Amino acid sequence: MPLIETFTTHSLLAERLRFQHLTELNRMHQNQQVMATLGGVLSDEETRLFIFNNLHHWQQYGFGLWVFRDKINHQFVGRAGLRNTNVEGSNEVELAYALMAKFWGLGLATEMGEKILKIGFELLNLREVVCFTLTTNLASQRVMEKLGFKYEREFIYANFPHLFYRLKA
Ligand SMILES: CC(C)(COP(=O)(O)OP(=O)(O)OC[C@H]1O[C@@H](n2cnc3c(N)ncnc32)[C@H](O)[C@@H]1OP(=O)(O)O)[C@@H](O)C(=O)NCCC(=O)NCCS
Repeated sequence: MPLIETFTTHSLLAERLRFQHLTELNRMHQNQQVMATLGGVLSDEETRLFIFNNLHHWQQYGFGLWVFRDKINHQFVGRAGLRNTNVEGSNEVELAYALMAKFWGLGLATEMGEKILKIGFELLNLREVVCFTLTTNLASQRVMEKLGFKYEREFIYANFPHLFYRLKA
């Protein structure tokens, strides 16, 4: 399986998550607006653990999260990627995405998602990818719909109601 270290989208550069991204991820994880739909802000220590776990994921499965920058001035836009997860007893590969608030509403989560799904289906040979979000996260639900995900069910995750979607190759 090819290890996808970097790639580009129409307006973004993606690089595989590294420990060197700590400062930028801390900036995102300590931002209340961004983290309101992701379980709340994370401390520096929690973000170090987040990176550690996601680097381990890369080692174990050969894919994971990428950090995205805008092509013009290399500003940190956010993080997104594919992660193995267990949902109600089933092993799934999840599409995850989070952007700094100043980049919301520009179509960038959809742009990231499109390329990541292409990598997942065409290079990593995944057969399906899931995505889930809080019932209240309408922007994320819209991103999933624009990416072609089909709604499956509502379920409780981390004590909150979530909507679960799936996309087949
Ligand atoms: C959710 C998130 C990733 C969306 O990123 P984004 O780059 O703004 O997404 P896009 O611009 O590609 O698409 C957003 C869509 O949602 C729509 N939208 C935004 N807010 C909405 C709302 N409150 N109600 C309904 N639709 C909404 C937009 O109009 C757009 O749809 P359109 O293209 O049909 O107009 C971003 O807000 C984010 O990072 N939030 C914090 C982290 C998070 O929630 N991650 C997802 C966890 S599952």
